Amino acid sequence: MTKKRLWITRRLSDATLERAARDYDVVINHADTPGTAEDLIAASAEFDAIIPCHSEHFTADVVAQFADRLQIVANHSVGVDHCNLPALKERGIVVTNTPDVLSDATAELAMLLMLGAARHAVAGDRIVRTGAWDSWSPAFMVGKQVTGARLGIIGMGRVGRAFAAKARGFDMDVHYFNRTRLTDGQAQGATYHETVESLLEVSDFLSLHCPATPETTDLMNAERFAMLPDGAVIVNTARGALVDEDALMAALDTGKVAAAGLDCFKVEPGGNPLFSKYENVFMLPHIGSATRQTRDAMGFRALDNLDAFFAGKTPRDLL
Ligand code: DGY
Repeated sequence: MTKKRLWITRRLSDATLERAARDYDVVINHADTPGTAEDLIAASAEFDAIIPCHSEHFTADVVAQFADRLQIVANHSVGVDHCNLPALKERGIVVTNTPDVLSDATAELAMLLMLGAARHAVAGDRIVRTGAWDSWSPAFMVGKQVTGARLGIIGMGRVGRAFAAKARGFDMDVHYFNRTRLTDGQAQGATYHETVESLLEVSDFLSLHCPATPETTDLMNAERFAMLPDGAVIVNTARGALVDEDALMAALDTGKVAAAGLDCFKVEPGGNPLFSKYENVFMLPHIGSATRQTRDAMGFRALDNLDAFFAGKTPRDLL
C-alpha cells in the first residue's frame, strides 16, 4: 500500500521522526523555521496530513486557499488557538491535538515560575552572577512563602489539575474557577468558586490554565488585577492572550502584584521587552512542555491520531 504523505512542520523529537519515517512518506522541515501561510497552502496540495506546532497559523484566510488533498491536521500541541477550527471543519479537514501527555511538564514549569517569582530568582541570580552580592542581612531578598498559602487556579483541566496536585505537595490551600464544577474526586479538596471574581479575592498566588479563546482574551485586565489581595503573585503558562500586559505592568508598579512568572506572552517569539525592567518578573520562552519525555509523548500522540485516522477509526483526540 502506498504510504500517506505527511509534512512535519518543525524538528520534532528523534523518536517521533523515526517512527514517522517508518510509517509515512514524510517530509520534515529540518530547518525548523515556522511554516508560513504560503507553506501551509502549498502543503495542502502535496500532503494528506500535516503535523504542525502552535507556530503554524491555520487562519480562515489560509484555510480558504487550501487545495483539496489535505485530510488531517494532527497538532503537536494541546492548545489549538493557532487553528481556525470552524474553517478547517468546513473544508472537511480533521483536527486533533495532544492533551494529557504534557500536563505534568507544564505544571512543573508553573511551579518553577511560582517559586522563582515568589523568591526573587531573577534578581538573586543577577546579583550572584555579576559579583554584586556584597552583603547579607535579614531583610535581604525577603520573598513570599508558598507553603500554606492560598492558590487560585483559573481553568481546572488536565494541566490545572496537575498543578493543583503539585501545589498540594507544598500544603497550599487550592481554590479554583472552572466552567464546570469538578467532581470531588477530581477536585481533591480544592475549593470551587462560581465566578473568577470570587476566586481572585482569595488568590495570594494565581495561576492561569485555561485556553485562549475570544472569551478569555485579556481575562486578567486592570479591573481583575485590582481584585487580587495586595502583593499577589501571578503565573501564566497557558497563553499570552489571557493577560493584558499593560495592566499587569501597572499592577506591578503599584505593588498590587508583587511578582509574576510568565512563560507566555502576547507576541511570541520575542515576548514584551517592557517586562525586562522588572526583576520581579521571571520570564521563560514558552517552554512549558519542553522535556524529553514529553516531546516524545507529544510526537507519538500526534502519530497515534494520524494512524487511527488513516485506519478508518476515530482519532482519540479528535476536536
Ligand atoms: C501546547 O501544547 O499548547 C504548548 O503551548 C506547546 O505548543
